[in-house]
Amino acid sequence: MGDPNNGDDRANSGSSDLPESASTSKSTDSRPLIPDSLAPRAQSRRDFLEGAGAAAVATAAVPTLGMSVAQAAEEPSQANVLETAIQLTVNGQRHNIEVEDRWTLVEVLRDKLDLTGTKIGCNRSECGACTVIMNGKPVYSCSQLAVWADGADVRTVEGLAQNGQLSPVQQAFVDNNGPQCGFCTPGQLMTATALLENNASPDAQTVKEALVGNLCRCSNYNAIVEAVVAAGDQGGVA
Ligand code: FES
Repeated sequence: MGDPNNGDDRANSGSSDLPESASTSKSTDSRPLIPDSLAPRAQSRRDFLEGAGAAAVATAAVPTLGMSVAQAAEEPSQANVLETAIQLTVNGQRHNIEVEDRWTLVEVLRDKLDLTGTKIGCNRSECGACTVIMNGKPVYSCSQLAVWADGADVRTVEGLAQNGQLSPVQQAFVDNNGPQCGFCTPGQLMTATALLENNASPDAQTVKEALVGNLCRCSNYNAIVEAVVAAGDQGGVA
């Protein structure tokens, strides 16, 4: 499973993994530093002249392209950004939206429609935090381009409660301590809701299979499964 905070710091973790023969650079306290093959080497006059010559050629070429180096860095591709007008029905409300073709559905929900109940966890189809119901099926909204959703009917966690009343699945999560930190809960609720709409009284094994794509970092799986089963026993999603 992906972890947004999983910065790989192995490169900074010292050289204990290096074979002795690779650790030829040593500090004064004899701790190995980095292998000679990766160590910065002294720059010869020839290296410098070759590098300076290449830079001069690059600098001379840029004005012929009509923009400075700074402009090129600041305006990487705006001129090439494509936009499309799409129509979405979200929680029963119709929206006509201009979206950049590279935007995902979850970005539009959160950043354009202010529906921030849908969370972004891994942002690559692994955790299920971003699950919404699109045309009756649970989907990872981080992995749907918004333009693909043109004309779709989308439901998010904000659409579950009606008239100030939690939906039966939401109430069952509360009653069975389904949420822990709560970050995955909106996605769990949407998958559970889609399940209960197709199977009003699922058993525990069916719930586990339906929720297999929704990870819980708190590992509160037993309570989540019990909550969904209880919601079914108490009348499903109606
Ligand atoms: Fe993890 Fe979309 S954010 S699956």
